[in-house]
Amino acid sequence: MAILMLLMNKAMAGSFMPTQGTEISKQVDNLYGFLLVVSFISCVILIGGMIYFALKYKRKTANDKTAYITHDTRLEVLWSVIPLIIFLFVFGWGWVIYHDMRTMPKDALEINVSGKQWAWTVEYKNGVKSTEVVVPVNKDVKLVLSSEDVIHSFYIPSFRIKQDAVPGRYQAIWFKAEKLGEFHVFCTEYCGTSHSAMITKLKVVSQEDFDKWLVSESEIGTLPLAQRGAKYFQTRACASCHNVDNPAAKIGPTLYQRWGKEVANADGSKVAFDENHVRESIMLPQSQIAAGFPSPSPMPSFQGQLSESELAAIIEYIKGLN
Ligand code: CUA
Repeated sequence: MAILMLLMNKAMAGSFMPTQGTEISKQVDNLYGFLLVVSFISCVILIGGMIYFALKYKRKTANDKTAYITHDTRLEVLWSVIPLIIFLFVFGWGWVIYHDMRTMPKDALEINVSGKQWAWTVEYKNGVKSTEVVVPVNKDVKLVLSSEDVIHSFYIPSFRIKQDAVPGRYQAIWFKAEKLGEFHVFCTEYCGTSHSAMITKLKVVSQEDFDKWLVSESEIGTLPLAQRGAKYFQTRACASCHNVDNPAAKIGPTLYQRWGKEVANADGSKVAFDENHVRESIMLPQSQIAAGFPSPSPMPSFQGQLSESELAAIIEYIKGLN
């Protein structure tokens, strides 16, 4: 049994489960492995026994009579009590892991994560905003989740943790990443058209790199306009719907080599792709729908969310995509 479980865990750490990025993910996998092994053994006993008895007691001749069978109390107690013990054991084991997952560590690095159709905004205490979660390795991190519109769900498969982000309240999850690298983050609550594109990365870096990153991000205000625009383009998740380096459309039209051209709207009108067109498309996305794209547009309005200076930076960046 112990060997089987060890093998299961090796198999899970290998290919058929995502990387184990935290201590808790190993515990979750151990429990999952145990469930698989117990289910497998039960299946063999049950199905194997069924086939064995069916063959053994098969009617052999025409007047072969089935023996009168009544119940056996000892047997009934056994097959009720043994599973009960196993279930209670699994429940206890699961409860211990769940308790660890849900008990927030003291002195954790707190990061606010907010969901909005269809991107995550990650905000650090020093005011840095990002669309990716960057955290130091071997440090307790607490994510405080919220939502600006509908229910989203923040899921890090490699850490085996998932939590809904519900509008109107805060929910927290914590983890302590043990491995450096990049991990997937998925939204796992259907939240509209681009739910499946609501993906981001969790980057685990050394404490030193983390400190450097925080400082460099906080100095973004001193960058040249177009470079700042490129940052906002990422942090506001424009990039999840618009290509910037090839002419193919994503969920929205490409912005590659568009500047200064005449573009067609769905209603047949033509419009110059200039400052005012870009501004209107960002602030009032429903006012003009590009030809070939659905109406109403899935693009959210950024009215009241982008300052004039941020908008100018984004426009400057789009200008440079030619
Ligand atoms: Cu956000 Cu699905």
